[in-house]
Amino acid sequence: MTDKKSSAEDRKLVLEAKKTRKNSYAPYSNFKVGAALLARSGKVYTGANLENSSFGQTVCAERLALYKAVSDGEKDFKKIAIVAPGAEPVTPCGICRQALFEFAPQLEVLSVNLKGKVRKYTLRELLPYPFKYEKKKTKK
Ligand code: THU
Repeated sequence: MTDKKSSAEDRKLVLEAKKTRKNSYAPYSNFKVGAALLARSGKVYTGANLENSSFGQTVCAERLALYKAVSDGEKDFKKIAIVAPGAEPVTPCGICRQALFEFAPQLEVLSVNLKGKVRKYTLRELLPYPFKYEKKKTKK
């Protein structure tokens, strides 16, 4: 984990995550999260958390950004910015870490709280032992 100065790229991603956070639908937790995912193509995909009265249907901001990107044909990602409230910048939940790992094991993670406190991680740091599915060889 580092808290180094932000680059122009970081600032752009944080701005996008902040804007998207406004679209969060979180009437149950009131914990609004925005994410901006930078694809290797250069395009940025955003997501906000989306809750439901059937709580288990809730989708985190990070996964929504990822799913939007993948369904648009992106499969390779460089960095994700996450903006959320709280004293400390929020890191992706376990499910999101595994979901992001599927496409971007080398992903950089930029976490920012509403006071502008920044933390930088690598997904590798956050998910040191990811689940990997080994396909069985099919019998011929
Ligand atoms: N949430 C996210 O969107 N991203 C995270 O990294 C942590 C949690 C959402 C899910 C739920 O809507 C609310 O925050 C409280 O858990």
